[in-house]
Amino acid sequence: MIQPIYLYGSQVLKDVAKPVDLNDKEHIAQLVTDLKETLAISEGCGLAAPQIGVSERVLVVDGDVMTDVYDYLKGFKRTIINPVVLEESNSRCEYNEGCLSVPGIYADVVRPESIKLEYYNENLEKVVETFDKFACRMIQHEMSHLDGVLFVDLVAPIRRKIITKKLLNIAKGKVSTRYKSKLK
Ligand code: CO
Repeated sequence: MIQPIYLYGSQVLKDVAKPVDLNDKEHIAQLVTDLKETLAISEGCGLAAPQIGVSERVLVVDGDVMTDVYDYLKGFKRTIINPVVLEESNSRCEYNEGCLSVPGIYADVVRPESIKLEYYNENLEKVVETFDKFACRMIQHEMSHLDGVLFVDLVAPIRRKIITKKLLNIAKGKVSTRYKSKLK
Protein backbone atom coordinates (compact mmCIF):
# COMPACT_ATOMS: atom_id res chain seq x y z
CA MET A 1 0.00 0.00 0.00
CA ILE A 2 1.20 3.50 -0.78
CA GLN A 3 2.25 5.19 2.46
CA PRO A 4 2.81 8.87 3.28
CA ILE A 5 6.46 9.90 3.38
CA TYR A 6 7.67 11.41 6.65
CA LEU A 7 9.32 14.78 6.21
CA TYR A 8 12.37 16.45 7.76
CA GLY A 9 11.58 17.27 11.39
CA SER A 10 9.81 13.94 12.04
CA GLN A 11 11.21 11.97 14.97
CA VAL A 12 11.25 8.63 13.10
CA LEU A 13 13.87 10.04 10.71
CA LYS A 14 16.20 10.70 13.67
CA ASP A 15 15.87 7.30 15.32
CA VAL A 16 18.35 4.47 14.77
CA ALA A 17 16.32 1.71 13.10
CA LYS A 18 16.27 -1.85 14.47
CA PRO A 19 17.19 -4.96 12.47
CA VAL A 20 14.10 -6.62 11.08
CA ASP A 21 13.15 -10.08 12.40
CA LEU A 22 13.92 -12.41 9.49
CA ASN A 23 11.39 -14.98 10.77
CA ASP A 24 8.57 -12.51 10.31
CA LYS A 25 8.19 -13.18 6.59
CA GLU A 26 4.70 -11.77 6.25
CA HIS A 27 5.70 -8.47 7.84
CA ILE A 28 8.80 -8.18 5.66
CA ALA A 29 6.84 -8.91 2.47
CA GLN A 30 4.29 -6.23 3.36
CA LEU A 31 6.96 -3.68 4.26
CA VAL A 32 8.89 -4.29 1.02
CA THR A 33 5.69 -3.98 -1.03
CA ASP A 34 4.80 -0.72 0.72
CA LEU A 35 8.29 0.67 0.12
CA LYS A 36 8.26 -0.25 -3.59
CA GLU A 37 4.77 1.11 -4.20
CA THR A 38 5.48 4.33 -2.34
CA LEU A 39 8.80 4.79 -4.15
CA ALA A 40 7.23 4.17 -7.56
CA ILE A 41 4.54 6.80 -7.14
CA SER A 42 6.90 9.41 -5.67
CA GLU A 43 9.42 9.03 -8.53
CA GLY A 44 12.43 8.81 -6.24
CA CYS A 45 15.38 6.46 -6.67
CA GLY A 46 15.41 5.05 -3.15
CA LEU A 47 13.37 4.77 0.01
CA ALA A 48 14.18 3.51 3.50
CA ALA A 49 11.61 2.09 5.95
CA PRO A 50 11.93 5.00 8.45
CA GLN A 51 10.71 7.31 5.67
CA ILE A 52 7.34 5.55 5.80
CA GLY A 53 7.36 5.55 9.60
CA VAL A 54 8.79 2.06 10.19
CA SER A 55 11.98 2.13 12.25
CA GLU A 56 13.49 -1.06 10.77
CA ARG A 57 16.59 -1.73 8.65
CA VAL A 58 15.03 -2.22 5.22
CA LEU A 59 15.51 -0.14 2.06
CA VAL A 60 14.75 -0.28 -1.63
CA VAL A 61 16.54 1.41 -4.52
CA ASP A 62 15.52 1.71 -8.17
CA GLY A 63 17.94 3.24 -10.64
CA ASP A 64 15.53 3.48 -13.55
CA VAL A 65 14.46 7.07 -12.79
CA MET A 66 18.14 8.11 -12.93
CA THR A 67 18.98 6.62 -16.33
CA ASP A 68 18.85 10.05 -18.01
CA VAL A 69 21.96 10.96 -16.04
CA TYR A 70 23.55 7.57 -15.34
CA ASP A 71 22.64 5.11 -18.10
CA TYR A 72 24.39 2.22 -16.35
CA LEU A 73 21.60 2.30 -13.72
CA LYS A 74 19.04 0.92 -16.18
CA GLY A 75 17.36 -2.04 -14.50
CA PHE A 76 19.31 -1.60 -11.27
CA LYS A 77 16.91 -2.46 -8.43
CA ARG A 78 17.68 -3.87 -5.03
CA THR A 79 15.81 -4.66 -1.85
CA ILE A 80 18.25 -4.56 1.04
CA ILE A 81 17.41 -5.97 4.46
CA ASN A 82 19.61 -5.72 7.58
CA PRO A 83 22.69 -4.52 5.66
CA VAL A 84 26.16 -4.63 7.21
CA VAL A 85 29.12 -2.81 5.67
CA LEU A 86 32.02 -5.27 5.26
CA GLU A 87 34.39 -2.84 3.55
CA GLU A 88 34.38 0.69 2.30
CA SER A 89 36.88 2.33 -0.03
CA ASN A 90 39.31 4.91 1.23
CA SER A 91 38.64 6.91 -1.90
CA ARG A 92 35.75 9.29 -1.59
CA CYS A 93 33.66 11.11 -4.12
CA GLU A 94 31.04 13.81 -4.29
CA TYR A 95 27.52 13.53 -5.70
CA ASN A 96 24.56 15.85 -5.58
CA GLU A 97 21.90 14.28 -3.37
CA GLY A 98 18.24 14.92 -2.74
CA CYS A 99 15.69 13.13 -0.59
CA LEU A 100 11.92 12.56 -0.64
CA SER A 101 11.91 13.48 3.07
CA VAL A 102 13.69 16.77 2.35
CA PRO A 103 11.77 18.15 -0.64
CA GLY A 104 13.27 20.92 -2.75
CA ILE A 105 16.79 20.69 -1.35
CA TYR A 106 19.77 19.29 -3.25
CA ALA A 107 23.37 19.38 -2.06
CA ASP A 108 26.74 17.82 -2.70
CA VAL A 109 27.75 15.15 -0.21
CA VAL A 110 31.10 13.34 0.07
CA ARG A 111 31.01 9.60 0.82
CA PRO A 112 33.16 6.51 0.10
CA GLU A 113 33.31 5.66 -3.60
CA SER A 114 32.54 1.97 -3.15
CA ILE A 115 31.26 -0.35 -0.43
CA LYS A 116 31.03 -4.09 0.11
CA LEU A 117 27.81 -5.09 1.84
CA GLU A 118 26.34 -8.18 3.38
CA TYR A 119 22.56 -8.10 3.38
CA TYR A 120 19.40 -10.15 2.87
CA ASN A 121 17.44 -9.75 -0.35
CA GLU A 122 13.65 -9.91 -0.51
CA ASN A 123 13.76 -13.72 -0.77
CA LEU A 124 15.66 -13.56 2.53
CA GLU A 125 18.81 -14.97 0.93
CA LYS A 126 22.11 -13.70 2.28
CA VAL A 127 24.02 -11.72 -0.34
CA VAL A 128 27.52 -10.22 -0.39
CA GLU A 129 27.84 -7.53 -3.04
CA THR A 130 30.09 -4.62 -3.90
CA PHE A 131 28.57 -1.39 -5.18
CA ASP A 132 30.23 1.57 -6.85
CA LYS A 133 29.38 4.76 -8.72
CA PHE A 134 25.86 6.11 -8.27
CA ALA A 135 24.45 2.70 -7.29
CA CYS A 136 26.71 2.85 -4.26
CA ARG A 137 25.63 6.38 -3.56
CA MET A 138 21.91 5.57 -3.61
CA ILE A 139 22.45 2.71 -1.17
CA GLN A 140 24.66 4.75 1.17
CA HIS A 141 22.07 7.53 1.24
CA GLU A 142 19.36 5.04 2.21
CA MET A 143 21.62 3.35 4.76
CA SER A 144 22.14 6.71 6.46
CA HIS A 145 18.36 6.81 6.98
CA LEU A 146 18.65 3.56 8.95
CA ASP A 147 21.03 5.33 11.33
CA GLY A 148 18.84 8.41 11.74
CA VAL A 149 21.11 10.50 9.51
CA LEU A 150 19.88 12.64 6.63
CA PHE A 151 22.06 13.81 3.75
CA VAL A 152 21.67 17.41 4.92
CA ASP A 153 23.45 16.37 8.15
CA LEU A 154 26.50 15.50 6.03
CA VAL A 155 26.66 18.67 3.97
CA ALA A 156 29.70 20.92 4.43
CA PRO A 157 28.98 23.60 7.12
CA ILE A 158 29.15 26.55 4.73
CA ARG A 159 26.61 24.99 2.39
CA ARG A 160 24.48 23.90 5.33
CA LYS A 161 24.03 27.53 6.35
CA ILE A 162 22.41 28.27 3.00
CA ILE A 163 19.83 25.50 3.36
CA THR A 164 19.01 26.05 7.05
CA LYS A 165 16.03 28.30 6.38
CA LYS A 166 14.56 25.90 3.85
CA LEU A 167 14.97 23.08 6.35
CA LEU A 168 13.17 25.05 9.05
CA ASN A 169 10.28 25.65 6.68
CA ILE A 170 9.96 21.92 5.97
CA ALA A 171 10.01 21.17 9.72
CA LYS A 172 7.21 23.73 10.19
CA GLY A 173 5.13 22.09 7.48
CA LYS A 174 5.60 24.97 5.05
CA VAL A 175 6.22 22.78 2.03
CA SER A 176 4.13 20.98 -0.53
CA THR A 177 4.95 17.64 -2.11
CA ARG A 178 3.42 15.95 -5.13
CA TYR A 179 3.31 12.70 -3.12
CA LYS A 180 1.47 12.07 0.17
CA SER A 181 3.64 13.31 3.04
CA LYS A 182 3.49 13.60 6.78
CA LEU A 183 5.21 15.46 9.61
CA LYS A 184 5.13 14.00 13.08
CO1 CO B 1 16.53 10.12 1.60
